Amino acid sequence: INYQTAKFITSAPDISKLPDDTGIEIAFAGRSNAGKSSALNTLTRQNSLARTSKTPGRTQLINVFELDSGQRLIDLPGYGFAKVPLAVKEKWQQSLSEYLQRRDSLKGLVVLMDIRHPFKETDQELIYWAVSCEIPVLALLTKADKLKQGARMNMVLKARQAAIAFNGDVTVEAFSSLKRFGVDNVENVLNQWFNN
Ligand code: GTP
Ligand code: MG
Repeated sequence: INYQTAKFITSAPDISKLPDDTGIEIAFAGRSNAGKSSALNTLTRQNSLARTSKTPGRTQLINVFELDSGQRLIDLPGYGFAKVPLAVKEKWQQSLSEYLQRRDSLKGLVVLMDIRHPFKETDQELIYWAVSCEIPVLALLTKADKLKQGARMNMVLKARQAAIAFNGDVTVEAFSSLKRFGVDNVENVLNQWFNN
């Protein structure tokens, strides 16, 4: 699959505005500021495909990118510490949980977590939920450039150990958008999900 061909399709405020629920979707989820939009740009080699920001809470809509017909990547709003009015936050957290619960074409979930503090409570809830729905998970430890190689290896090994507890299809990899590493691993996992 050539991820460079990704095209922006739409930004949906809720699931009723999404394209038809057919084909295969792979969604990028995680805490605000975890690096979801950056990872999508890195994967697709398009610097401004998904909007990124230093301010948590940048992505407030469900953003849809198409690879081939019936193959889509989804940039989801983050959860956690977004500095936004509560009413707005509730609205988009609702669209996030609706998406996760109702979208039949969702066939794989990339859960992005800062390598320095992975598996926070909400991350764990999300992964447990995905496992219970038999949706495979790629736990992507982002901003891996922030750690030296030894510490990074250590975190990956610890996270792989921790991931066993989910008792499901949970793959753990390190990733850096800044230094562009881990991209091949992401492509390999996503290729499998798309081709299943
Ligand atoms: P929301 O849309 O708010 O949920 O955030 P997001 O998860 O989409 O994060 P985004 O990609 O916008 O990145 C957040 C911040 O982290 C930005 O300042 C990025 O430049 C930075 N960032 C993202 N990926 C990396 C990385 O691999 N390494 C480093 N050092 N910084 C990164
Ligand atoms: Mg974003």
